[in-house]
Amino acid sequence: MTSPPKSSNTVWHHATVTRQRRAELNHHQSVLLWFTGLSGSGKSTLAHALEERLYQMSYRTFVLDGDNVRHGLSGDLGFSNEDRIENIRRISEVANLFVEAGVIVLTAFISPFQADREKARNLVGKDFVEIYCHCSVEICEERDVKGLYQKARAGEIKYFTGISSPYEEPIDAELVIETGNRTVDECVDQILEFLIQRGVYQHKPF
Ligand code: ADX
Repeated sequence: MTSPPKSSNTVWHHATVTRQRRAELNHHQSVLLWFTGLSGSGKSTLAHALEERLYQMSYRTFVLDGDNVRHGLSGDLGFSNEDRIENIRRISEVANLFVEAGVIVLTAFISPFQADREKARNLVGKDFVEIYCHCSVEICEERDVKGLYQKARAGEIKYFTGISSPYEEPIDAELVIETGNRTVDECVDQILEFLIQRGVYQHKPF
């Protein structure tokens, strides 16, 4: 359920090309794979690696990536709690539209608050799959691919997740991936296995 619009003079228009018809055309169902975890926990890497595998099998996919979206759709938002909540609200709505459009959508956002992930889950319904990229702050900080942990420790970045801003661990994730001690390929295989069980993915969709 979406929240009621501010403007009352709008009327929902029902499409004749439904999600089910799109699924028939695409030869696969759509689903939202919601990656959550600390910065540097491997969300984007994993989402893109999985997308590559799915693309090679002719699946329709799209990755919504935190850093990229913050250049456009959420370019007006920072990292206060309020701004993160608004960021995740926007992404949830956009992702939901992609699911309606028949696409396998992969989102890679820290999405640190349980309540916001819960709202996304309620919006999308049964096709919401929460994937927790589990990796300790110590390992993320050791990797520090973007050099942001160092800056956060030096006080140059305020409200940095895991250092000076909270990360609430998922309580009902469909999948927990140990990204700290497994290879990208192993992690991708674990997700594909799950998608096979759910009937979303087959080795030969056509
Ligand atoms: S979220 O909290 O609103 O979900 P989002 O995933 O969009 O965050 O953006 C996180 C990315 O922004 C990080 O991977 C990192 O590259 C960058 N970033 C910049 N400042 C911060 C900060 N204060 N906390 C976390 N990430 C930050």
